[in-house]
Amino acid sequence: MRINGRAYGPVKVRDELTMNDFLRERLGLTGTKFGCGAGQCLSCAVIIDDPDGTSHTSPTCIVPATSFNGKSIRTVEGHATNGELTALQRSFIDHFAFQCGYCTAGFLNEGQVLLERLAKTPVARDDLEKTIADAFDGHLCRCTGYFKYHEAVRDVVLADPGRYLT
Ligand code: FES
Ligand code: FES
Repeated sequence: MRINGRAYGPVKVRDELTMNDFLRERLGLTGTKFGCGAGQCLSCAVIIDDPDGTSHTSPTCIVPATSFNGKSIRTVEGHATNGELTALQRSFIDHFAFQCGYCTAGFLNEGQVLLERLAKTPVARDDLEKTIADAFDGHLCRCTGYFKYHEAVRDVVLADPGRYLT
């Protein structure tokens, strides 16, 4: 498996070990959170990069680590490069988008996947708000910071309309 561009394993794990426990307990990658533990909040979501060049997020709390065998994933620890934050990370900070921060890694991963998708398949400005809302659908924030996350993504898109919008 590749995590944030680095090869891990092969390692032997129990069949019932979740990917969340593997990341947090075995690898010390604690940026991936454990919230509901039932596939309902997506605070535990990581990015899976598929061989066809597309990416999507997946919960880790209810998914066995073994099912990630051979996959390439990104976690919140993999976004910044040499300490340089991504545009989306900076926008999260500028908008004070997070409060307790428990849901933030999931929103960041989802927002990043959305930006990468829009860079390949731009949308009309009129469709942007729904596109962002649809992308974040399923991510729960108990501090109710939804609008700030939404605004943070929107600002990144509007700062570079030639890249993300038709
Ligand atoms: S902790 Fe995985 S979906 Fe809530
Ligand atoms: S910032 Fe606290 S759960 Fe979202």
